[in-house]
Amino acid sequence: MTKALVTGCAGFIGSHLTQRLLNEGVTVIGVDGFLDNYDVAAKLRNLAEIGNHPAFTFHSTMLQTQRWKEWLDGVDVVYHLAALPGVRNSWGKAFTDYVNHNILATQMLLEACLQLPKPPVVVVSSSSSVYGTMQGTFTDESSPLRPVSPYGVTKEAMEQICQVYVKAYGLPVTMLRYFTVYGPRQRPDMAFHRFFRQMMKGEPVVIYGDGQQSRDFTYVADAVQANLLAARHALPGEIFNVGGDREIKLLDVLNIMGGLLNVTPNLSFQSGPAGDSLRTCADIQLAQNRLGFRPQVPLEEGLRLQFVDMRAQAKG
Ligand code: UGA
Repeated sequence: MTKALVTGCAGFIGSHLTQRLLNEGVTVIGVDGFLDNYDVAAKLRNLAEIGNHPAFTFHSTMLQTQRWKEWLDGVDVVYHLAALPGVRNSWGKAFTDYVNHNILATQMLLEACLQLPKPPVVVVSSSSSVYGTMQGTFTDESSPLRPVSPYGVTKEAMEQICQVYVKAYGLPVTMLRYFTVYGPRQRPDMAFHRFFRQMMKGEPVVIYGDGQQSRDFTYVADAVQANLLAARHALPGEIFNVGGDREIKLLDVLNIMGGLLNVTPNLSFQSGPAGDSLRTCADIQLAQNRLGFRPQVPLEEGLRLQFVDMRAQAKG
């Protein structure tokens, strides 16, 4: 594997993945449309950290401009991370944009790959939000899909359209269901980013609901590793959960964060926007067995790394 296309290369996971690929000697074509879910200055900073690497070509444009011939030329693997993310903003008029960026743009990519004499391997970013609120102990990939947000519905539909192309044409597409990824460069709308920022400013930490909701938070480098493993080992149509070291309640995470900043967080409980899952907990056995995936970064260490990064940004 020597040449990759990364869609969403300036975003949170995409920028880390791009750096990792470049470090491994892969030539990377990066496309990013600068959607307004992640502020432009932060994305430019991510790109600056990738730097002027001779093996990196960046296209600042939306996938809908469809310059696939140029982007896919000689590419072995496509890492498709471009999307409109976030569960809480996907209601109302915004849904059209979610459909556009998460379903329609993905279908355009699949069609473009199909036109090539040898289609590349495509690793598509999906989400634990396809499951909704989880029942039982762990959720494996065969668990029922019951999204509780319009965003989750678009991710489910995105998976379905991929499966249709796999079945009809054997297109080598695989899907990764990430569980709430965190770490340096986390999207500003996401919980840890907001909590650290609020605590650093001495502001109240806004908790949606009672803080008893739980997540299987996944460190960004582990999500990146899952992408590389999937590109190497996954079969067409396979779907994998990508989770972290354990399930934990939000209030327990805030205790760890307070310890890092040496403060007692001042918590402000508010009724949360609709669309929130109460609980996620990944069964990652399939990814372990088939891909050799094993999360490497425990939550405590990942939180420390995110805090160090955010403190440096705040000073810089
Ligand atoms: C995240 C991402 O935003 C989705 O794009 C992704 O698909 C999803 O993870 C996933 O992996 O499935 P979410 O789990 O809501 O969604 O992640 P956070 O935004 O980090 O929120 C975690 C929890 O903290 C949620 O229960 C949320 O309600 C809560 N929260 C968030 C607060 O209490 N206060 C805030 O200010 C922000």
